[in-house]
Amino acid sequence: MSGALLEIDGLVSKYGRQLALHGVSLVLARGAIHCLLGQNGAGKSTLLQCIAGLRRIDGGTLRFDGISIAGEAAHRIGARGIALVPEERQLFDTLSVAENLLAGACARAGKAAIAADLAALYQRFPRLAHRAGQRAGTLSGGEQQMLALARAMMSRPRLLLIDEPSRGLSPLAIDDMLLFLGQIRAQGSSVLLAEQNAHLALRCADQLHLLEHGRISFSGAPAQLPARELARGAWPGMDAVPGGSGGRACSHTASTV
Ligand SMILES: Nc1ncnc2c1ncn2[C@@H]1O[C@H](COP(=O)(O)OP(=O)(O)O)[C@@H](O)[C@H]1O
Ligand SMILES: [Mg+2]
Repeated sequence: MSGALLEIDGLVSKYGRQLALHGVSLVLARGAIHCLLGQNGAGKSTLLQCIAGLRRIDGGTLRFDGISIAGEAAHRIGARGIALVPEERQLFDTLSVAENLLAGACARAGKAAIAADLAALYQRFPRLAHRAGQRAGTLSGGEQQMLALARAMMSRPRLLLIDEPSRGLSPLAIDDMLLFLGQIRAQGSSVLLAEQNAHLALRCADQLHLLEHGRISFSGAPAQLPARELARGAWPGMDAVPGGSGGRACSHTASTV
């Protein structure tokens, strides 16, 4: 199917009388990694929560696959194929790794397909397989992030929203996560990754969106980004990006998630 996967037009969100999003417009393509780069307080989490139906929107439109989803309940939006990995991960700490993964598939029918997806994820993340019976709360930070991503994938999302997953991760864990995002894209799903770290965003983004004080100041391919835009923002990680452009980390190789 052609056309955009998600079209956001003039999205407004408020906390009380305080505007957090001032009319955000974004178009997300199918099978692409989009990075939403913004400093702390820019409105990244608010935007992802609005898309996932976890926050009421105060204006504007949201269309997923050509259908308006504005005002829909979170579980209905989830059933349409949008999954959110929140900033705080929200794992079920006292449940096992396996139970957390199966919870990700709770809205799906078809036991055989669920079991096959679980097996594929265990193959992709052997550390989760080794800890399948272990309580999620006992995992390391990196393993918990992996579990949160894998749990979201158990719902077979067409759009995966990920809120600052790199926080507290080792460089190796970040590399593996970016590789996984590339594999998700290779399967035809799209990713919207919220990040504060420009280096990381530039390593994996097909499309970059700068969010500043609740407004989009740039949307386009990273190569189209004027250097002055990043310099103006003093983004974390930019010291590690000579000339303002990063290497590509998300493999285009198709593989089973
Ligand atoms: N629960 C809340 N109550 C009031 N204001 C909030 C709340 N959550 C976020 N905000 C405000 O909304 C703006 C955007 O916040 P947020 O979406 O969390 O930004 P980011 O995720 O980019 O750090 C900030 O000014 C923040 O202070
Ligand atoms: Mg946030």
